[in-house]
Amino acid sequence: MNSSAQLHWQLSKRRAQMSIAILTLLSLAACGGSSTTAGSADNAAQAVPPDTILTGLVTTAPAPALAAPPADQPSLIPFANEEGAVLTVSSTGSIDKNNAFFKAFGNGRSCATCHQESQGWSISPDSLQARFAQTNGDDPVFRLVDGANSPNALVATIDQKRLAYSMLLTKGLIRVGLPVPADAEFTLIKVDDPYGYASTKEVSLFRRPMPTTNLKFLSTVMWDGRETFTDARSNICIRNTRPLQCFSSTDVDLLHQSNSAVTGHAQAAQGLTAAEQRSIVDFEKTLFTAQITSLVAGNLTDAGAKGGPAELAKNNFYFGINDIEAGDYLTGAPFDRNVMNMFTAWRGLDRPVPPNPPVQGRPPQPPQPPTAINLARGSIARGEQIFNNKPFNITRVAGFNDELRVPLQRATCASCHSVGNVGSHSVPRLFNTGVSDASLRTPDMPLYTLRNKLTGETVETTDPGSAMATGKWKDIGRFKVPSLRAIEARSPYFHNGGMVEISDVVRFYDKRFNIGLTPQEVIDLSEFLKVL
Ligand code: HEC
Ligand code: HEC
Repeated sequence: MNSSAQLHWQLSKRRAQMSIAILTLLSLAACGGSSTTAGSADNAAQAVPPDTILTGLVTTAPAPALAAPPADQPSLIPFANEEGAVLTVSSTGSIDKNNAFFKAFGNGRSCATCHQESQGWSISPDSLQARFAQTNGDDPVFRLVDGANSPNALVATIDQKRLAYSMLLTKGLIRVGLPVPADAEFTLIKVDDPYGYASTKEVSLFRRPMPTTNLKFLSTVMWDGRETFTDARSNICIRNTRPLQCFSSTDVDLLHQSNSAVTGHAQAAQGLTAAEQRSIVDFEKTLFTAQITSLVAGNLTDAGAKGGPAELAKNNFYFGINDIEAGDYLTGAPFDRNVMNMFTAWRGLDRPVPPNPPVQGRPPQPPQPPTAINLARGSIARGEQIFNNKPFNITRVAGFNDELRVPLQRATCASCHSVGNVGSHSVPRLFNTGVSDASLRTPDMPLYTLRNKLTGETVETTDPGSAMATGKWKDIGRFKVPSLRAIEARSPYFHNGGMVEISDVVRFYDKRFNIGLTPQEVIDLSEFLKVL
């Protein structure tokens, strides 16, 4: 890319907030430079027929920085976001909009109500606000059952609705209502719910919809693992656990999950037929989503890089792959922390270009400074190495320090985000990294005080996490390790949407684990995470 094209990228990066229209991005990619902003990326994508977008891409962009979808997958379109664009590919070649995933059930909701392709198969506050404005708060996502802060909220006027759905509108949070398990090792002794609803019978947990893509790399279903079922007869077991913890396949989990979603979120009187469950899960499993272009680094498959969804789909996965404790379950290889290696080919691209060999009679030329695009690529490659190799001590993490036999707990990001080029965890092992600690509570979140029935010890938390499924004291605050692909498309982050920017997440970890990242390392690691 020449320097004027680079300038376009830089300018557009500053301008391109979430409201940039996909057409704007496409014309910038072709350096047309016009800026027809037309609402959120989501709206624009809905408003413009895919054919128009594709035609525009093909005919106006001779060397498009925004990758055209593979020729054999004509129905696949990239969606613009703050950093570039995200693309979903399907192993069937197209995204079947006739699948039951897109069918309205019960209260008018479909799976796509909360799992939108344009938003990394989750939902973003920007698009929710647009949907609210367009429908006066009547879009099916705005339903009292779990869209509102409380099922009893008043929704007679538009202002009441705006208040009632504030958690959804500001952070994209759905209210997961769960009872404290009857046989739990703890009791709920105090509820501080700003919305006056939560009780032992139904605790309100505000959580982000998890992406329904890249499910090939999943070992654990739902933030708290409550749709991951144990199965004593199964041979899918976490090694070294006493008693041995064995699980059903994620396929079984996902079939069950699809039905829970329809009777829960969609309030359908009847569950799905077995055939519908099968077809939804088959559909979900065909999808692979990743960032495909970056406004600063260009095409993420250029110059030997292996970003984007097509490369992602090629990565291997099985239960126990690259396990931190027991090593790889299949090959027996010890744990390898070089988990991410998509951008190794970009290492050093930001070094000054050595001068040409001297030409006789001319003065020797100075080294050329790297181009802006190569500077961006070099930063991403450094971020990848920080993710794999920057060591820190993991302390006070339930699920890690108390349960794993890992020497010294000297770790990196890859210790937990350990599935190659994905960042999920290959066995159902959940960790408490402190996200739901009382110290991080914001006034919009409920706070719960739990007391240990045996010891009398108490703990305050905004979300007991996996303890709500297992009833175990040691599981309080534990959540699953999410996949990190396509995260730019699905801000805000963590189960509670508490972090808006990827750099906020990086700074959270820097503080939590005293990593000691330099300002440049914060930038590099963030730039890397943005292009996943
Ligand atoms: C009202 C919004 C909403 C609707 C409708 C909805 N979901 Fe979800 N989905 C969520 C939320 C919120 C979570 C995370 C909940 C949690 O972890 O406690 C989730 C999680 C999931 C997950 C877990 C992914 C993972 O990585 O663990 C899958 C799979 C899923 N949903 C599929 C579906 C399917 C299939 C449908 C339609 C039958 C559906 N969802 C309908 C909000 C929704
Ligand atoms: C001890 C295990 C552990 C370590 C180490 C760890 N993570 Fe995580 N990561 C998690 C868990 C668990 C979550 C989900 C936390 C939650 O939402 O409560 C998470 C969530 C995330 C998310 C948010 C994803 C989303 O979908 O919202 C990002 C980004 C992330 N981690 C990046 C990193 C980076 C970068 C590092 C290294 C600096 C790192 N993680 C180190 C366990 C870990």
